Amino acid sequence: MEQRGHSLNLSFVIVMVVFVGFASTCQGGVTSRFQRKLEATKDMPLDSDVFSVPAGYNAPQQVHITQGDLNGNAVIVSWVTPKEPGSSTVLYGTSEDKLDKSAKGKYGQYKYYNYTSGFIHHATLRHLKYDTKYYYAVGIGQTVRKFWFKTPPQVGPDVPYTFGLIGDLGQSYDSNKTLSHYETNKDAGAVLFVGDLSYADNYPYHDNRRWDSWGRFVERSTAYQPWIWTVGNHELDFEPDIGETVPFKPFTNRYRTPYRASNSTAPFWYSIKRGPAYIIVLASYSAYGKYTPQYKWLEDEFPKVNRSETPWLIVMMHSPWYNSYNYHYMEGETMRVMFETWFVQYKVDMVFAGHVHAYERSHRISNVAYNIVNGKCIPVPNQDAPVYITIGDGGNLEGLASNMTEPQPSYSAFRESSFGHAILDIKNRTHAYYTWHRNQDGAKVMADSMWFTNRFWLPTDDSSNVV
Ligand SMILES: [Fe+2]
Repeated sequence: MEQRGHSLNLSFVIVMVVFVGFASTCQGGVTSRFQRKLEATKDMPLDSDVFSVPAGYNAPQQVHITQGDLNGNAVIVSWVTPKEPGSSTVLYGTSEDKLDKSAKGKYGQYKYYNYTSGFIHHATLRHLKYDTKYYYAVGIGQTVRKFWFKTPPQVGPDVPYTFGLIGDLGQSYDSNKTLSHYETNKDAGAVLFVGDLSYADNYPYHDNRRWDSWGRFVERSTAYQPWIWTVGNHELDFEPDIGETVPFKPFTNRYRTPYRASNSTAPFWYSIKRGPAYIIVLASYSAYGKYTPQYKWLEDEFPKVNRSETPWLIVMMHSPWYNSYNYHYMEGETMRVMFETWFVQYKVDMVFAGHVHAYERSHRISNVAYNIVNGKCIPVPNQDAPVYITIGDGGNLEGLASNMTEPQPSYSAFRESSFGHAILDIKNRTHAYYTWHRNQDGAKVMADSMWFTNRFWLPTDDSSNVV
């Protein structure tokens, strides 16, 4: 018996040594000391397999889908034909051999400096049945390509649903690892993408061929499940020096959002319901001061959220409000000042942002007491407040953010400078399991995880801070 006690103690010591060696704690937060394998973060060359042009004359490429309405029974299908317009029609149906419905779309082209795009098609498939697998075909009359997608369950409080979370992806070798790693999760039905897609603007004259290559790279996922788009700074493509003065020109030509369905007046901020979640997408690079369209829209939007119908209230944005890295420090501060009181008032469950090329998760905190003269400007624990998660770790060519502010602020629960993605697995109206997966780990391994308890249904439970 005594010997067994010794071995148990020894096991405990070993576990503690491993834990302390892995992470350092400071004021309750964890800074992971995991060291990713150091290697150059380079974009994949344009002749890489992942960018290959599909075979066949004028074959549709860069196929991607997104939710097409408020409730999830419409899908917008987008694709590019390189040589000539061809058909803008999508054939679709619930049987692979019988695509008996059709949706006619439109196509357009745009120029950016010395680049002219292919023919960019968008078609909306409406009145789809919930929770149903649809097959669809594009390139009708020429080279036809077939894909499929699954619609979400009917909006409701207790329908389980799993989201993927990816940000700042780019098209480097690390981006490819992130996407492949995400693809090993077979449960996720949609990606919440927190902005910065192609990083084409890092090339001379914003070489828009890198928008095309990115579209081909991600097609293996975007053609089969909706990616819910947030715009980041790399979507601005605002370059007056070369005569490009229309912000978001490549993005708005290539990607669609269902903004009108939520009464938004611009594609950069909008809402959708999907299964048990109400998702509000905000625009860090559009005006949000008082009286602006985005401000007025959000002011009207929060009261519309019915937590008995969609218990989970999720907000996406690009520039994080709470970020303890030295990169982009405080860039989200002005939006926080404008909107944070609403986030607390309406008990937002979680806020996902990107921009900082690393991972961080906060405790439930707020910083809304300051009134210029009272000096109350330090974040404090607040169970009505959301958890803030920075997931800008997709792996783009700009590399990792590795410098952190020290000591780790008390609001920061966990941070690690690695590439990865996350999964949000909503179980029912009260519980959701969240996991972050660094690229170096196997599919089932998570480097950070927590159970979310719903702010509306379980507002007093403090399990949110469990690491
Ligand atoms: Fe960014």
